Amino acid sequence: MGKIIFFGGKGGVGKTSCSTAFALSKARNGLKTLLVSTDPAHSISDLFHCKIQDKMTQLESNLFGMEINPQKESNAYIEKIRRNLHSIMSPIIMEELNKQLDAASVSPGTHESALFDKMIELIINTSKDFDYIVFDTAPTGHTLRLLSLPEMLGTWMDSLINKRRKTLSLKKMMGKNKDDKDPIIEILSKRKKNLTLAREIMIDGENLQFIFVLNAEKMPIEETKKAVKMLKTYDIIVNSLVVNKILPDNSSDDFWKSKKVKEEKYLKVIQEEIPVNKIYKIPLFKFDMDEYTINEMVQYFL
Ligand SMILES: Nc1ncnc2c1ncn2[C@@H]1O[C@H](COP(=O)(O)OP(=O)(O)O)[C@@H](O)[C@H]1O
Ligand SMILES: [Mg+2]
Repeated sequence: MGKIIFFGGKGGVGKTSCSTAFALSKARNGLKTLLVSTDPAHSISDLFHCKIQDKMTQLESNLFGMEINPQKESNAYIEKIRRNLHSIMSPIIMEELNKQLDAASVSPGTHESALFDKMIELIINTSKDFDYIVFDTAPTGHTLRLLSLPEMLGTWMDSLINKRRKTLSLKKMMGKNKDDKDPIIEILSKRKKNLTLAREIMIDGENLQFIFVLNAEKMPIEETKKAVKMLKTYDIIVNSLVVNKILPDNSSDDFWKSKKVKEEKYLKVIQEEIPVNKIYKIPLFKFDMDEYTINEMVQYFL
């Protein structure tokens, strides 16, 4: 059973770079690692100058990469629901449902759910084959809620399944139901099983770690504090922080000198106000991250 690491944080702070450097450090320590990106822009494909997409691709010895495209997953998710409903609903009801499914397919909530389902599927299917699975994005609080309420979720799923069973037996009595295997019951049962399994894997602090990336500035600190608190209410502990893009401290220029003083003040705030086991501090490099420059960052995670 491998460890699962989620990198959280706002856009641009360095999640993709840091998760890649982290994964490289594990791989180079001889640990078999899978790096998963869910960010269609600025992804690990750009970093490694190769096309990865949703096929697992070997990047170097012990390191494999994979990219999940939320839009594509979301479309596949809706189409699957559409197909399943199509086989059991009348054409008239289906016409209305199609409109609703079209609306759902462009809603952010659907993207989140589809992505979350895909992440869970990946964890369930591959975590036994890897020492580490590193995600460059964390699921949102909205989707994590699903994991934090297993009893409620179980009861809710069970009641949906029971309702469906009742409808089916009613239909059967009226001679309308020819098929005993019901796709809706199958979907609900599978989803319940997967969520229960995912919770078992994820709530266990031994297996799952959240790492937050931030910059030493006022707003990111406030946001990280909120996120850490929110995750705690779901029994998920943030173990480590990465403070990325730390300024050099040898500047003679007044502007940068005063920036540096402020940054040091914010670093203190981070240390004092966000309770974690470990804080990685990564300097701001001269260059953007690519397949060569990322090696500079790797050493900070070794
Ligand atoms: N320590 C660093 N020094 C210099 N540039 C960095 C550093 N970390 C990240 N970057 C650059 O900042 C930009 C955003 O980083 P990225 O990892 O894509 O962030 P995110 O995934 O959080 O959106 C990229 O251009 C990346 O090359
Ligand atoms: Mg990214």
